[in-house]
Amino acid sequence: MRSVPFTPVTLGASRLGDRPDAEALADALVTSTLGHVDTSNNYAGGRSEQLLGDAIRRAGGLPEGHLVLSKADRDTDGRFDADRVRRSLEESLTRLGLDSLPLYQYHDPFTLTVAESMAPGGPVEALIALREEGVIGAVGIAFGPTGETREYVETGVFDVVLNHNRYTLVDRAAEATYLRARELGMQVLNAAPFGGGTLANGSASYGYHDMPADFSEHVKKVRSLARDFAVDLAAAALHFSLRSPLVDTTVVGIPSLERLDALGALLDATVPDDFFDAVEALGPPPASGNS
Ligand SMILES: NC(=O)c1ccc[n+]([C@@H]2O[C@H](COP(=O)([O-])OP(=O)(O)OC[C@H]3O[C@@H](n4cnc5c(N)ncnc54)[C@H](OP(=O)(O)O)[C@@H]3O)[C@@H](O)[C@H]2O)c1
Repeated sequence: MRSVPFTPVTLGASRLGDRPDAEALADALVTSTLGHVDTSNNYAGGRSEQLLGDAIRRAGGLPEGHLVLSKADRDTDGRFDADRVRRSLEESLTRLGLDSLPLYQYHDPFTLTVAESMAPGGPVEALIALREEGVIGAVGIAFGPTGETREYVETGVFDVVLNHNRYTLVDRAAEATYLRARELGMQVLNAAPFGGGTLANGSASYGYHDMPADFSEHVKKVRSLARDFAVDLAAAALHFSLRSPLVDTTVVGIPSLERLDALGALLDATVPDDFFDAVEALGPPPASGNS
């Protein structure tokens, strides 16, 4: 199994492109010492990769040891076959101005069943061939739905798994999948430690959806514990993932320079074990509404 030299935190560039400071943010991301960068072929309609590539060119190349990780996406007509995977990689490499990628993940395959994805001549076989050709270092599955993500893990062909919003301070839905991935020798990227924002910015949704009432009550109890312990909730949410032995890297969404500037302090924060014990003592979190 191939492994990726992950940094504890990875800078998520899914929203790169939707703000006026996008160029400056791209420059900061490709030279950041805080961690590698995560993007995808279809983030911001390809603008995320393009902005990162332009920044890499302005910097005269990626700094030594700094990595950009990306993902294969279906085309705009929903096609996600072997040819599309190869074209997706060509597009990614062209935009980024790189010859190869350390990790390329099979991203959000909502339009295909697991069997269709894994069929001979299918998209996953194409990714594995690209790994054998040396143009990809490692192959991953990056997906949300817990049941299907677990099925992809069980195939045993992926080097890494990325799940999101389902292993956080207030949600453990992905825990069994991560445990299984570990048993199989895979690496784990845990994305969206703030549940898409709410645990850091107080937004009303979790995992990009409205919260079910009982889950919302649970989040309120955790917020209240953070106040009791005088703990910053964003720091606690980040450190929940950073301290987990199941997680190789935590992918945090960085939509602006302001959020990048704030990350160092969150990483340096100390969150007492007693706080995490008190959260565990609340019992298993209710379902968050994500499948
Ligand atoms: N299927 C997949 O492969 C998949 C799916 C989801 C995510 N991901 C990856 O994981 C990354 C993270 O996911 P995510 O961005 O959706 O979720 P997240 O990391 O849980 O939340 C990020 C959001 O939290 C807010 N935030 C960040 N730092 C903050 C701070 N210091 N204080 C207050 N608010 C802060 C920002 O929103 P505001 O600035 O708007 O407040 C930011 O957009 C993505 O960028 C992507 O790289 C991959």
